Amino acid sequence: MSSDRASLKELVAVKGTHDILPGEVEVWQTVEAAVAGMFSRYGYRELRAPVIEHTELFEKGTGETTDIVQKEMYTFVDKGGRSITLRPEYTPSVARAIVEHRLDLLGTPMRYYFIGPMFRYDKPQKGRYRQFHQIDVEVFGEKDPAIDAEIIEMADAMLASLGVTGTETLVNSVGCRACRPAFSQALRASAEKVRDGLCGDCRRKMETNPLRIFDCKIEACRELAKGFPQITAYLCPECRDHFAGVRRYLDLYGLSYRVDPNLVRGLDYYTKTAFEVIRLDAGQQNAVLGGGRYDDMMKDFGGPDVCGIGFACGLERLIALVSVKPGLRPFVYIVHAGEAAKTKAVELARLFRRRGVETLVEFAGRGFKSQFGRAAKLGAAWVLIIGEDELAKGEFLLKDMATGTQTAGSPESLLAALPARVR
Ligand code: HAM
Repeated sequence: MSSDRASLKELVAVKGTHDILPGEVEVWQTVEAAVAGMFSRYGYRELRAPVIEHTELFEKGTGETTDIVQKEMYTFVDKGGRSITLRPEYTPSVARAIVEHRLDLLGTPMRYYFIGPMFRYDKPQKGRYRQFHQIDVEVFGEKDPAIDAEIIEMADAMLASLGVTGTETLVNSVGCRACRPAFSQALRASAEKVRDGLCGDCRRKMETNPLRIFDCKIEACRELAKGFPQITAYLCPECRDHFAGVRRYLDLYGLSYRVDPNLVRGLDYYTKTAFEVIRLDAGQQNAVLGGGRYDDMMKDFGGPDVCGIGFACGLERLIALVSVKPGLRPFVYIVHAGEAAKTKAVELARLFRRRGVETLVEFAGRGFKSQFGRAAKLGAAWVLIIGEDELAKGEFLLKDMATGTQTAGSPESLLAALPARVR
């Protein structure tokens, strides 16, 4: 017995994960429905990929030099000896699905969204979890800078529609395979000069991917990075023109944004445009959403040469900013007393629910008065009363809890008396 009690103490959610309980979940549902509605207005359709993928997908897609692949993946060997990973992000899964199903040949717009859990073995803190949720959006096969701007505008519209304020949109171009090597070299040379002042991680990044140094959260490294060269001066004509195009369209939308030459993002696959929306009043976990263009991923997977661009928004971070207060949906609470009334309550609950009315009937054996108290406490809009008299007559009472008005009648006439919006 005592050992059972001790083990119960261990029954808490795994570190870095959290439950979304009734009361909160309505906010999540409201936000999810709002963003799904918004994306469909821009021509996006939902694409659901599995939670697990071959580890190689992320090693190749997300990139070997990223923190995600190096430190944060939940990877295990399954019973068939395969190396499997719980997706740390969604972009490689969508690219894989396109190659696998040759969605590029269908001729439909390749605009996809998804809302669901991602997994990263990161150090949990406020706004950073090991299981978190992303709203992910991806577009394929559109090279024009107009789509980069449209996607940033859609992110902005999404936040505005949820009443989010106090954020800033940052944009940059991280170049491409043609122009980035020269920049990386210049960066490495600058970093070499201040090597002793950099943290161990940054010294390692100097070898693997010097751009990552800009991601370091350590203040001393950030200070030193301010003196490093900026990518803007190294962009090839194609990347420069593309970035100018993106800014022109952003200006056309009248969107407020800031060009941040040090914005490199923590993933290896970006080419040309990179962007983030950050929360101005937050510390380190300030990125509400981030994304960019990745024109080589599909090709690198051995698939067709199809370019991509997208972003992902952390739902936990978004929910912390929205001011959605979902109201209680109006529902009927059935009050019943005695065995025969209970049987009738079961029957009427079924009828009402089948007719689209949210109906609650409970079986805790409470007295009449106590059931009324409970209906009021739960916020029932109406109470349907089934007492002995009502049973004998086959007529029941529907009490409007807001006005106190009672209507007597057959189940059908009471259903008809309910406002059309709840039926
Ligand atoms: P990311 O910057 O790694 O990009 O993540 C996007 C967003 O997910 C972040 O801005 C943040 O809001 C949220 N997020 C990331 N990690 C955590 C965490 N541990 N806890 C809570 N929230 C978190 C990507 O994942 C790319 N796939 C985005 C993309 C899509 N790029 C192109 N298409």
